[in-house]
Amino acid sequence: MSKVLDAKVMAVLPVAPETYYMELEAPEIARLAVPGQFVHVRCSNSQDPLLRRPISIHMVSRPKGILALLFRVVGKGTELLAQKQIGDVINVMGPLGRGFTLPLPGSRVAVAAGGIGAAPLVFLVQELANMKCQVTVYLGARDKKNLLCDGQFVQMGAEVVIATDDGSLGFKGTVPEMMRRHNDWRRTAMTYVCGPKGMMKEISAMLAEADVPGEVTLEEHMGCGVGACLSCTVKIAHHGQITNKRVCADGPVFPSWQVVWD
Ligand SMILES: Cc1cc2nc3c(=O)[nH]c(=O)nc-3n(C[C@H](O)[C@H](O)[C@H](O)COP(=O)(O)OP(=O)(O)OC[C@H]3O[C@@H](n4cnc5c(N)ncnc54)[C@H](O)[C@@H]3O)c2cc1C
Ligand code: FES
Repeated sequence: MSKVLDAKVMAVLPVAPETYYMELEAPEIARLAVPGQFVHVRCSNSQDPLLRRPISIHMVSRPKGILALLFRVVGKGTELLAQKQIGDVINVMGPLGRGFTLPLPGSRVAVAAGGIGAAPLVFLVQELANMKCQVTVYLGARDKKNLLCDGQFVQMGAEVVIATDDGSLGFKGTVPEMMRRHNDWRRTAMTYVCGPKGMMKEISAMLAEADVPGEVTLEEHMGCGVGACLSCTVKIAHHGQITNKRVCADGPVFPSWQVVWD
């Protein structure tokens, strides 16, 4: 059950280059949301841009009725969002989509995050920590300045292993390259992945080879956000058949072994 409501901006601040953290007062959405879901945000009060923009649910505080987003400015919609001030009102639809499958309490799990892909995984790790799971986060970014959410993951009790493309912090290289040097993820009940498509594709292949179940969060351009316009379809292999699935309604989270990558 999703809601459409006017949410008051309670906080908005830059946290990394072109990256903003925003808190919205949206108690109904915070109450219903589960990790992996997203909200569809109207970034402007005018007709430009006309379409809402999908942004993952980064965190919720149910007692305070707060919904937190973490987003990177890449175009007009996200730029307008970054310019919002405390007290402004934003129309938000959500929570939308299908979230992550949670493991049994106490399980050992891995989380692989690249760049802004860390955004939805903070809510997930918060939930996993509540379930007393043992969590290792493989966290990557272009460089140290662009590394996101490392402090939050540590605070939630996760082990955090860092990779940066330029070696300015942690392992020098990509998240999949770093994971190849670690064995912990091979013994997990589930590995959750969110990041650039190339990274998710590579890790999905590694998980399949190691026979580890995984879930990935897919991103596609969206229209309606609720399953009606079919603008967000991806190819999913299921029981030997390839079918079109809608990222907004059937995902954004999909089993890693079912995704047919371009
Ligand atoms: C389910 C879901 C969750 C998301 N969660 C987050 C999040 O938590 N934080 C965040 O920063 N971003 C997230 N995104 C991406 C975000 O929706 C886009 O960056 C945003 O819509 C861009 O809007 P814009 O008007 O700023 O840019 P536009 O002008 O629309 O586009 C700018 C550039 O970004 C590309 N782009 C735009 N949207 C997408 C998309 N959906 N997939 C791939 N490329 C795209 C365009 O091709 C173009 O090159 C998510 C996307 C989806 C589908
Ligand atoms: S955005 Fe319309 S069906 Fe997914």
